[in-house]
Amino acid sequence: MKLSPPVVAQRSQGDTAYAQALRPQYHYSSRVNWINDPNGLVYYDGEYHLFYQYNPFGIRWGHMGWGHAISRDLVHWRELSPAMTEENDKTGEPVMIFSGSCVVDKENTSGFGKNGVVPMVSVFTGHKPNRQNQHIAYSLDRGRTWTKYDKNPVIDLNKKDFRDPNVFWHEPTQRWVMVVLLPTEKKTLFYNSTNLRDWTKTGEFTAADSPATVWECPNLVEVPVDGTIERKWLLMLSMGSHGAAGGSGMQYYVGRFDGKTFINESKPGDVRYVDSGKDYYAAITYNNMPVRGNRGAVSIGWMNNLQYANDLPTTPFRGAMSLPRELRLSKQTGATPADRPQYELRQKPIQELKSLLGIPFRWNGADVQQLNQSLTEAGVGGDTYQLSVELDVTKGDAGVWVRKGQGEQTTIGYDAAKQQLYVDRTKSGQVAFKKEFPGRFTTTLKPDNGKINLQIWVDRSSVEVFANEGKATLANLIFPKEESRGIEFFGDAVRNVTIQPVDAIWK
Ligand code: FRU
Repeated sequence: MKLSPPVVAQRSQGDTAYAQALRPQYHYSSRVNWINDPNGLVYYDGEYHLFYQYNPFGIRWGHMGWGHAISRDLVHWRELSPAMTEENDKTGEPVMIFSGSCVVDKENTSGFGKNGVVPMVSVFTGHKPNRQNQHIAYSLDRGRTWTKYDKNPVIDLNKKDFRDPNVFWHEPTQRWVMVVLLPTEKKTLFYNSTNLRDWTKTGEFTAADSPATVWECPNLVEVPVDGTIERKWLLMLSMGSHGAAGGSGMQYYVGRFDGKTFINESKPGDVRYVDSGKDYYAAITYNNMPVRGNRGAVSIGWMNNLQYANDLPTTPFRGAMSLPRELRLSKQTGATPADRPQYELRQKPIQELKSLLGIPFRWNGADVQQLNQSLTEAGVGGDTYQLSVELDVTKGDAGVWVRKGQGEQTTIGYDAAKQQLYVDRTKSGQVAFKKEFPGRFTTTLKPDNGKINLQIWVDRSSVEVFANEGKATLANLIFPKEESRGIEFFGDAVRNVTIQPVDAIWK
């Protein structure tokens, strides 16, 4: 049976859906219903598209298709009607539309373009209970409506688990490349195509050192290396388990790509995590980004963990995206000249987000009591702000409590002896809905010249931390009471504080 999804109620005057206490104010969430992975991130003709896994019928995972939002600045989003929904195939069985990519086929290699209109082509996994294979669809109206290719699937290996195609144009070989997974075998497969319809397998990548039991949502992208003219290939993989903070998470490898297969150059056994928080999954990067200097790739992730994603205490929506991040690499020379240099990921919130920042509160003393007193006097606090602070960790442990209220707080701190940055959400409001939710999440981070610099983005139900030029990031959901709005610093190491309100993107 084909269910037709209810039309998403558009925002209207007096709509309170975006005003609730736990509704993210500057992270994307759909007006109603369940969302998971970002899909088909692509720029075209003045618009950034954010497609995503979406259940049009409810607040739990199911009936998956692609939801759709657009933005002109990667900051303010407008939700459109779902792009593609679950449909029955010729045998009458429903086929869900799982994660995938979207490309702009400028040369009309696919032949889907008509009368000079450039087609957008999406590549996604068609899911049935015992079969996953790769499908394509095209749009001739800037992503608003989609036509599925009548010869789908374009790749079928007769497998139960075979999903999440990541497709991009590879300029040097003049080919489309698909990176796609055999999740349970933890095998990344590479395919080439000249027309997006016919695909030839060109390689495989697997890594014995991955602690994950399952890989999902691969993303291969070339990124700039800071302070050099080099570019390297970054392969990000989502891990169904054994993520940095337990449950799902993401890891990465850095190496070369010749158009056919990925050659890993990361040190074996040295597992690198994309984010050290508990809620960062399925991040992928934008295709066809406008060229802007040496800008890195731009990614968006799903702020959630498979351990409890279906149980989050929000309604009538469930799930939110991370801030868009710019991805770059930093070259680390080896301990001895014989060691290969290693490349580490650096992630920063994109520049465009600055447009949301309001008038700053600034402080640059050394007496934390005095700082806390001036915060109280000035009435600085709230549920949507960006806070930056420098910690002179030669003076010991320090940090900040945010969303502080009666019996509640979220702690972001640095343990100087252990050289660990942490986020503790054991007291972050409604945390008991699932035993895996509360916790203290840490990552090792060495100070730079004795300093730890933190940029902390507080939203109504999340805290994203970026430390030391994006060397470490921690994304975590929190569910505090509306009235928990306090900010209080602790420790003698606190220096140079800036707190700026962040505007809502829904206006
Ligand atoms: C990851 C994932 C993908 C799949 C999609 C289904 O969260 O399981 O592997 O394509 O979600 O919604």
